[in-house]
Amino acid sequence: MKTLKLTAAKAISAAAEELFAPATLSVEEVVEMLEYPPDGSMGDLALPCFKLSRTLRRAPAQIAEALAAAVKDPAFSSVECVGGYLNFKKDAAAFSARIVNTVLAEGDRYGAPDLGKGKTVVLDYSSPNVAKPFHIGHLGTTVIGHSLKLLHEFAGYKCIGINHLGDWGTQFGKLIVAYKKWGNREEIEAGEIDALVALYVRFHAEAEADPTLNDEARAAFTKLEQHDEESLALWRWFIELSLREYNKTYRMLGIDFDSYNGESFYTDKMPRQIEKIREAGLLEIDDGASVVNLEKWNMPPCLILKRDGSTLYPTRDIAAAVYRKETYDFEKCIYVTSAGQCLHFAQWFKVLELMGYPWYEGLVHVPYGTVSIGGAKLATRTGNVILLKDLFAQAIEKVGSIMKEKGAETADNEATAEAVGVGAIVFYYLSNNRMRDINFLMEDALSFDGNTGPYAQYTYARACSLLEKAGEGSGKSVAPIPMCAEESELARVLSLFPERVEAAIEEYEPSFITRYILDLCAAFNRFYHECKILSAENATERENRLAFTRATKTVLGRALSLICMKTPEKI
Ligand code: ARG
Repeated sequence: MKTLKLTAAKAISAAAEELFAPATLSVEEVVEMLEYPPDGSMGDLALPCFKLSRTLRRAPAQIAEALAAAVKDPAFSSVECVGGYLNFKKDAAAFSARIVNTVLAEGDRYGAPDLGKGKTVVLDYSSPNVAKPFHIGHLGTTVIGHSLKLLHEFAGYKCIGINHLGDWGTQFGKLIVAYKKWGNREEIEAGEIDALVALYVRFHAEAEADPTLNDEARAAFTKLEQHDEESLALWRWFIELSLREYNKTYRMLGIDFDSYNGESFYTDKMPRQIEKIREAGLLEIDDGASVVNLEKWNMPPCLILKRDGSTLYPTRDIAAAVYRKETYDFEKCIYVTSAGQCLHFAQWFKVLELMGYPWYEGLVHVPYGTVSIGGAKLATRTGNVILLKDLFAQAIEKVGSIMKEKGAETADNEATAEAVGVGAIVFYYLSNNRMRDINFLMEDALSFDGNTGPYAQYTYARACSLLEKAGEGSGKSVAPIPMCAEESELARVLSLFPERVEAAIEEYEPSFITRYILDLCAAFNRFYHECKILSAENATERENRLAFTRATKTVLGRALSLICMKTPEKI
């Protein structure tokens, strides 16, 4: 719904037909070429005519001049030629009224792209490794993944969120050995995942001195693989303890998964795929291991079976993809992981293609950059980890004390502090393009003044409070009376929401929404400071401004919720 661009493109295309026949300019082509000038004083929309010069065999300025004289549409108050550009100024009042009224009429559905009807998208995200710390490195997969799910849902897709838990592998042999030697049920129940991580760390320390522990661990894992009841019970318990912790974090973020089928779920689904790889003549033996050679595609071989016949991470992903296709018949299956796994995904995507599954094209890997804190890179091995729960707890506590300082009085301070504290971290994280490496600065994330989550949520609460003061029935529509610059600017930003949503989906980039939120907050706050709202000159103006406020509340609330942020009405 690129309202403004589409309106201009239609007028341009019609004019071009008269002016430049037999050459033509299609509406779609023009929509692609139209640009929003960086500075409003140059107009609201511009068509750079330079690229047209070859097809139309005229100088860019000549093209712009001819079009300026011929293009007519009541939506635009002026169409001018400046250099090689055709600049459009919209009729502010008519246009703004149309946008705000559209938002008010469509409400929560405003901006929803019509992309996904009847289609299913599977999203594989968060997916931590059981009994290992859930740390700041998982923030990316968790919030990018969930935002992408919300965005796709908004676009009408049926979405299946899968937490592909790392719940299988030799680490469980180690844990079982460690637990039997040094563990204590009550202590571990009480300590939850921290106690498990401690056991794991102790195992590694002791195995340094006594390498036979590793043999014991291998034997314990084999027993687990053979479905020994006692081992299975311990394994289930480890998963349950870990999930207990993950769920605390997920609850704060409002995340719920449709499936927690982790790696273990695919154990009995691998042989069929391995057979298929073999039948396709793809399997080679390399130093005892079975691999698929990918030299032709400039990649190292994809490992399918270890020397001892045990399966690997790619093997499980291949089986999982086939299972998901058969179960959900997805159009796309999206995997969100750190950029460190790019090669892994490229390799096994290629193997699926070579196996002859045509739907490999629907597999999408969405990578993201690293996170450091105060400049220090995080490493699980050296113990330099920041747990997500600690990060959230710290943010919530700080926000709580800032709110107290500011004398905030909300009905539910604790819930508000949680929404704002957690939201601050999410917003800060999603402010950058996902591939960028981020250095996390708590101070910056929590500031109420900068371009932060608290600032955005505060702006939302401001709109809510205005509407509450004005009363339920107010601000239901806009009349196209002359409007001030702040109003037109706010309407312009509101009109951009649909295309930002589409772009975010197309590029798998929730940060487009974060940046949109900042644009909208800036426009609304300028409007709020420059225009009298509750005390407007007359009833029509007051009603109009309240309608602008209501439309902002709707779009801002929707945008925040699309990036996993809660929207308290009072802060
Ligand atoms: N558990 C993995 C990790 O922590 C991420 C899993 C991603 N999903 C997948 N299907 N490979 O690195």
